[in-house]
Amino acid sequence: MTPDELKFFENRRSDFPSLSRTVNGLKAVYLDGPAGTQVPTPVIEAIAQYYRTSNANTHGMFVTSQESDQMIEETRAAVADFLGASGPETISFGANMTTLNFSLSKAIARSLKPGDEILITQLDHEANRGPWLALSQFGMNVAEINVRQDGTLDYDDARSKISPRTRLVAMGMASNAFGSVNDVHRMRAWTKEAGCLLLLDAVHYAPHFPINVQNIDPAFGGHGEEVIPEGAAGGSRIQSATDRHVASFF
Ligand SMILES: Cc1ncc(COP(=O)(O)O)c(C=O)c1O
Repeated sequence: MTPDELKFFENRRSDFPSLSRTVNGLKAVYLDGPAGTQVPTPVIEAIAQYYRTSNANTHGMFVTSQESDQMIEETRAAVADFLGASGPETISFGANMTTLNFSLSKAIARSLKPGDEILITQLDHEANRGPWLALSQFGMNVAEINVRQDGTLDYDDARSKISPRTRLVAMGMASNAFGSVNDVHRMRAWTKEAGCLLLLDAVHYAPHFPINVQNIDPAFGGHGEEVIPEGAAGGSRIQSATDRHVASFF
């Protein structure tokens, strides 16, 4: 890292009030990124300001409601920019990643039939496993891609399990447990070949690396909690691949 880059990151620290906390006289260190990303002052201020001035339901004919609509649309545009999405209309918000994923699995299940296969991974957070495992109650086969001893995905195992019966592969972009970064481009090539959907959980990836969903072209890319509070999440969807699901989900 160059001295200028170091200075940049040192300056950014002051944006985060939590990083100036001390515990037992020592500077606090946060090792639990996935359990709650720290929030910078401009975000804290924007949220407080919203509750001070505009707090309202949406789509009303009164000023605070119109301000709420405007804020949501501006946020949608900012998130689209952040994810390199084709446009704000491809961005959906939900309570959090887990809830969004349960809604998504329920919606996708409508177009699946017993015997269809879904592939999840042993490396993923429960938020990207539970919603798909739940579909085994309806006769879908849910298989798991193994994780290797070094905390990376077993791509040979993945390759051997993606078949013409596979309808969706749900995987993370980075593991919250090990920090391993998955080869999503390789998986995208295989899922394209099999003609199935790819769902990417970017909760742990998005705070660390730039994302361009159009380069990856998954059907759904979920992210959350970069610098927005725990519990808020958004996802980007590639319209063409998913219109029939999206209609029932969002
Ligand atoms: C990799 C990963 N995916 C998903 C989740 C769940 O996110 P949420 O709390 O928004 O449901 C977490 C959070 O801990 C996570 O680390």
